[in-house]
Amino acid sequence: MINPLYAASGGRYDAGMVYERCGRSGIRLPRISLGMWHNFGDVDSLANSRDMLHYAFDHGITCFDLANNYGPSYGSAEETFGLIMESSFRPYRDEMIITSKAGHDMWPGPYGEWGSRKYLFASLHQSLKRMKLDYVDIFYSHRYDPETPLEETLQALVDIVRQGKALYVGISKWPVEAAKVAYVYLAARDVPCLIYQGRYNMLDRDVETSGILRQAAEAGVGFTAFSPLAQGILTGRYLNGIPADSRAAKHRFLTPGNITPAVVEGIKALNVIAERRGQTLAQMSLAWLLKDSHVTSVIIGSSSVAQLADSIRCVDNTGFSPEELAEIDSITARML
Ligand SMILES: NC(=O)c1ccc[n+]([C@@H]2O[C@H](COP(=O)([O-])OP(=O)(O)OC[C@H]3O[C@@H](n4cnc5c(N)ncnc54)[C@H](OP(=O)(O)O)[C@@H]3O)[C@@H](O)[C@H]2O)c1
Repeated sequence: MINPLYAASGGRYDAGMVYERCGRSGIRLPRISLGMWHNFGDVDSLANSRDMLHYAFDHGITCFDLANNYGPSYGSAEETFGLIMESSFRPYRDEMIITSKAGHDMWPGPYGEWGSRKYLFASLHQSLKRMKLDYVDIFYSHRYDPETPLEETLQALVDIVRQGKALYVGISKWPVEAAKVAYVYLAARDVPCLIYQGRYNMLDRDVETSGILRQAAEAGVGFTAFSPLAQGILTGRYLNGIPADSRAAKHRFLTPGNITPAVVEGIKALNVIAERRGQTLAQMSLAWLLKDSHVTSVIIGSSSVAQLADSIRCVDNTGFSPEELAEIDSITARML
């Protein structure tokens, strides 16, 4: 199909992106995926969203992470993706891993959130319409639901794959005991869990201490880290105050209260190490996650092409000396 408005760069697979096998599966994911939680909604510039999506794909990012309620407003990041799918990406659909999720609040009433079969199916149907897709590559249960029987949620995931509405399934933020049930249930029905999505960055190491990371590796399940930059804290963004256009200034999930004097002191010290390594702080923070081959991919957020261009280069140096790791640990321990 010829598209006069966008032609992907012919060099997109020679731009330095590295692809890592996702658990025991046939899929290799780019070590950097692009997340659309923020900055792709109907309150944001469509031209900027389009430029970031084009830049990502042109530089070897083949995985785009979405969810039903990304925006704001809810659903609008998927609508943005649908617009770009129609205008630019359609000829490249088979080169992409496109995800969606359901679990958090999406519409009013008792069927608009959590883990029922009713909600998961209805939500995915809506997501496919918004994104103008026949199927997603990965469909996630976005969060563990303590009230719905696990079997109901898991069987819905199995049936979604059987109906061809998703090729693979994943779980996000499920506690370790529930994840164990999920891996066994799904594998027994020949729809093995492809991937676990959890928050992981230098300041939040819960997936290490809870055993989630080790459990996924042992089960042959890939792992992808969300908020790898701690929503921007682990970058140069807040080295000199809180910029008016930053997430801390604009959004409810990160506030000026999170940028404490201890945090600022810490990022300044981390930045010294990053400079020594010839990296920006964002690049070092991402490289720190990618040093571990159990982290299949990191899902980065971005508010500009310049940030994306900066972050993506983290793949050039993901090695750390034991001394560097110890120094980073002692600094981050003081930031908490
Ligand atoms: N499964 C889940 O429950 C869940 C939860 C959260 C997120 N996620 C996924 O993970 C993705 C990423 O999450 P996140 O947005 O919190 O990720 P993040 O990568 O930790 O933070 C992204 C923010 O960091 C700043 N930034 C990024 N690159 C930078 C650079 N090179 N230099 C300076 N600043 C930079 C930008 O902040 P400014 O906006 O201030 O410029 C950007 O918006 C989401 O889009 C979503 O797909 C999943």
